[in-house]
Amino acid sequence: MPEQPSEETNPYGGGTTTGPRRVRTRHFQNAKANGIPITGLTSYDQLTARIFDQAGIDFLLVGDSAGNNVFGYDTTLPVTVDELIPLTRAVAHAASRALVVADMPFGSYETGPDEALHTAVRFMKETGAHAVKLEGGVRSYKQIRRIVGAGIPVMAHIGFTPQSEHGLGGHIIQGRGSGAKQLLEDAHAVQDAGAFAVVLEMVPATIAAKVTEQLSIPTIGVGAGPDVDGQLLVWTDFAGMSDGRVPKFVRQYADVRTVLFDAVTQYRADVESGVYPAPEHSYE
Ligand code: KIV
Repeated sequence: MPEQPSEETNPYGGGTTTGPRRVRTRHFQNAKANGIPITGLTSYDQLTARIFDQAGIDFLLVGDSAGNNVFGYDTTLPVTVDELIPLTRAVAHAASRALVVADMPFGSYETGPDEALHTAVRFMKETGAHAVKLEGGVRSYKQIRRIVGAGIPVMAHIGFTPQSEHGLGGHIIQGRGSGAKQLLEDAHAVQDAGAFAVVLEMVPATIAAKVTEQLSIPTIGVGAGPDVDGQLLVWTDFAGMSDGRVPKFVRQYADVRTVLFDAVTQYRADVESGVYPAPEHSYE
């Protein structure tokens, strides 16, 4: 999505009126209408949020993948709202252009629309995020409807949904064979419920293309091929931060882990050999 051309005036005064104009959900809609690809990355802290925002990424997802990437859990299942709130606040505070999406973790919306709205309101009030994301298609219809009805934009998430990894039988591509019908039903359900965009994770490119053609809201692919309206990646995967395997659909754009590892190794060697600190690093 190109840079928003003008500044936005705050109708009630206060706040910031300088800097680039905030990406809004309506810009997602315009992007789809005009065939302009939407870009997204996860972020869990203010340092990366600032870099990604300055590089023009359209939306930052404070994903529950923080479970793996920040907290060191094996899955996203243990992540709590209380754990995600400070991370989301840091990202929302740092990003001046990107739309910031708060991920609703497992156990914070499944029991019904009331619980879902309560969680969404917490994220909006306590973090400064601009939208929330939750997993599930048909099964999350009522939750999405209630949250959207309260004026909170919802990004839906269907296909492979990591919070259901045990129910789905592992990290398995969704929407193949007879699963295509379910995926299309899920896509239409979240659109009908009022979601402003839908993440399609790990689905065959041909099915993702079909969903994208049928929906009027933008589709955001994570391992869904090129024929979607936007792409989202987990930043630690695309930047080579993890020492584990990354999914097939990830292109590694940098090897930040090696850069950092080499720098740390050099620092340690310099301290141990007395090369650092040098005279220029000392106060008179
Ligand atoms: O938590 C996350 O990072 C996500 C993306 C993988 C879609 O939900």
